[in-house]
Amino acid sequence: MSKIPKVLKLNNGFSIPTIGLGTYKSSPNEVKDAVEYAISIGYRHIDTAKLYGNEKEIGDALVNILKSGKVKRDDLFITTKLWNNFHQKNLVVPQIKESLKLLKLDYVDLYLIHWPFAFKEDAELLPTDSSAYSDVDYLETWEGMEECVTQGLAKSIGLSNFNKQQIDRVLQNCKIKPVVNQIEVNPNLSQPELIKFCQDKCIVVTGFCPLERFGNSRDPNYPGPTAQDPKVIEIAKKYNKTAPQIILRYLLELGISVIPKSVNPTRIKENFEITDFDLDCEEIEYLKSRNKGARVSAMLQYKDHKYYPF
Ligand SMILES: NC(=O)c1ccc[n+]([C@@H]2O[C@H](COP(=O)([O-])OP(=O)(O)OC[C@H]3O[C@@H](n4cnc5c(N)ncnc54)[C@H](OP(=O)(O)O)[C@@H]3O)[C@@H](O)[C@H]2O)c1
Repeated sequence: MSKIPKVLKLNNGFSIPTIGLGTYKSSPNEVKDAVEYAISIGYRHIDTAKLYGNEKEIGDALVNILKSGKVKRDDLFITTKLWNNFHQKNLVVPQIKESLKLLKLDYVDLYLIHWPFAFKEDAELLPTDSSAYSDVDYLETWEGMEECVTQGLAKSIGLSNFNKQQIDRVLQNCKIKPVVNQIEVNPNLSQPELIKFCQDKCIVVTGFCPLERFGNSRDPNYPGPTAQDPKVIEIAKKYNKTAPQIILRYLLELGISVIPKSVNPTRIKENFEITDFDLDCEEIEYLKSRNKGARVSAMLQYKDHKYYPF
């Protein structure tokens, strides 16, 4: 039987459910049903962000679910993220308050700095030219994040898309340690070094784009979607599973949490049913061998920013 734990312990005593529902590009009219369905079949971890523009509808879903009494607030783990235009220390608390209002919650379980680099407050959310860059240091942002914990607005705080040096700088200067680094992890970018680095520092890794967004990578090294690899399809047949289930199961072997996105009930269910079988060593080794270091989410347009992480 599978040895995958249902939750991973964070360095502050709280726990993060191993499998969560991603919601990037889950449109406002789809996400409410997706979240309600996911929670009804056992998901307890929902990942969103200011950038995704769907916090309000996720909040509507949470109100319905909590009203039904089937799930308590304490049972849920809700993550949202601070966007790059709001990295100044004094903007962080107002930003989390805005997210909480949309989510209709008193607190989030986890608040993340979405990316280490900042934009000016009055710029577009995804600016197209470097005049919108701001050089606010993410250490200043971290002080604002700590204030979110102090004020009870976030149970835990963490990072996303931070590299080793950036994590180290935060660790050396923080009062409250980050509990999570949310980074891209999939068979083509399995990140063994960064995962080990985080685990050695007691920081849990959450892997985003676990399904490689189904081949949506512009990296020339990208060998194509792992879900379409004939060998992975063969492994899936052996276990009476689908190729995405094999991929997600493999990622859990890395000791991380995963947040596959779907708005389709069949796929939401499929992505959750990944702990009732075990892969063998050879199958895991094969999946490991697909690591070509190709990114789906590179934000290459900002690569000349002082704090660009890759
Ligand atoms: N921190 C960050 O910077 C960052 C960056 C990117 C993503 N994220 C988070 O990580 C989550 C996951 O990443 P992602 O959404 O980019 O990519 P992903 O989860 O790798 O892939 C999502 C895509 O795969 C499809 N899909 C999902 N399950 C499937 C299945 N079992 N079979 C076939 N197709 C399937 C979805 O379509 P359907 O909806 O139609 O099923 C969607 O098109 C995001 O939603 C977001 O919450 C964070």
